[in-house]
Amino acid sequence: MSDAKNARLEYDGKTVELPSLTGSENETGLDISRLRAETGIITYDPGYGNTGSCRSSVTYIDGEAGILRYRGYPIEQLAEKSNFLECSWLLLNGDLPNTKELNSFTNNITIHTMLHENFRKFFGSFPKAAHPMPVTAATVGAMSAFYQEKDTPETLHETTIRLLAKYPTIAAWSYKHSIGQPFIYPRNDLDYASNFLHMMFATPCEEYEVNPIIARALDQLLILHADHEQNCSTSTVRVVGSSQANIFAAISAGISALWGPLHGGANQKVIEMLDAITHQGMSAEDFVARAKDKDSDVRLMGFGHRVYKNFDPRARVLKKACHDVMNAMGLNSKQLEIAMALEEIALNDEYFIQRNLYPNVDFYSGIIYKAIGIPVNMFTVMFAMGRMAGWIAQFLEQKESPEFRISRPRQIYTGAPERNWQPVDTR
Ligand code: ACO
Repeated sequence: MSDAKNARLEYDGKTVELPSLTGSENETGLDISRLRAETGIITYDPGYGNTGSCRSSVTYIDGEAGILRYRGYPIEQLAEKSNFLECSWLLLNGDLPNTKELNSFTNNITIHTMLHENFRKFFGSFPKAAHPMPVTAATVGAMSAFYQEKDTPETLHETTIRLLAKYPTIAAWSYKHSIGQPFIYPRNDLDYASNFLHMMFATPCEEYEVNPIIARALDQLLILHADHEQNCSTSTVRVVGSSQANIFAAISAGISALWGPLHGGANQKVIEMLDAITHQGMSAEDFVARAKDKDSDVRLMGFGHRVYKNFDPRARVLKKACHDVMNAMGLNSKQLEIAMALEEIALNDEYFIQRNLYPNVDFYSGIIYKAIGIPVNMFTVMFAMGRMAGWIAQFLEQKESPEFRISRPRQIYTGAPERNWQPVDTR
């Protein structure tokens, strides 16, 4: 902090000094934490769009420049050279693991993938048609009833392992429950992504042979979704954690926040768009023409991004993964053919080029999930599987922060002024 850069706010005849803070990438914020104490006024920022809620060293984003880094490492390098568990270690510990650390971490995750047998009954108590998202949120919340230790550095380490290890099992079982199939137990000889695919698609009657190209694409998807700084669900995890609620409660709340269509649901919209195009028998060209027409309210779903005004770095990685999966699986549906045609047309169309509208991460993730047979109602569950690492890292960072305090925003009250109680009929 440097005094020279302090801001001065004048209000109602008073002048307040607002210290400035500069981050390691030169982002600047004004510290208004003393504003109310010194002047009685608060700041107003609905949706917190211009509010820094914490200092964090986990993830850096520059949307204008198309940059996303975990602990300083560009996402493109991590997606190419790392796997999801290595990235999770990085997010949690701040540096990449050495071989011994990674092997031990991977082994620890692998041997903790089973759920307590009582969870079979727990799953069975949900209606058959239950959406997997509330089932996984409830299961993670319920884990705090099975693991009741107080949060200490040692127990939090164990809990981190449990959450990362068991979430794929919870996710796959929520799906198996929704289609009425028997639960499939994890296999310790498989890597993280392959084990999940096995639990999703094997049955007691038939093994599922994991295609390594698909497992790799899935692993990359988990890496790309692992963190995205103070987004809605991560902020939810921090807000719940700020009351010193246990980590299971905080992560369960994060899963619920992610479920909202404005947050985790965008890739579902891509598939709905592809369904609508096929049902209406429209061509990709006709649909793009409608998306460009200002008199229609149609948009090309999966194109454009609020933060990234350049190619979303995650989409760049996924474009390749998507094409790899397509080559491995073949264009096994009309929807996938249309998706590839939409991509080709829009990437070469002046309308999209001029407005910097590139495919976003949801365009490709939706298509990859569709191609490998993951149903649409599991898309957000998959997102949560990757984001689990980031949520835990952010929860732990907050817990260790010297600035830890309960989240408690203020408001501008716009209700009735004081009035006296009297029976409504005599008014
Ligand atoms: N299809 C057609 N035109 C588009 C699209 C699109 N997908 N996205 C933006 N435009 C046009 C707008 O009509 C506008 O045109 P104009 O300048 O002629 O009026 C221009 O591009 C800028 O659009 P804005 O809405 O101002 O851009 P903004 O940054 O606010 O919106 C958003 C970003 C909401 C993501 C938008 O691009 C969109 O609706 N995309 C489709 C939905 C989608 O894929 N959402 C997922 C985003 S990824 C995520 O949230 C994790």
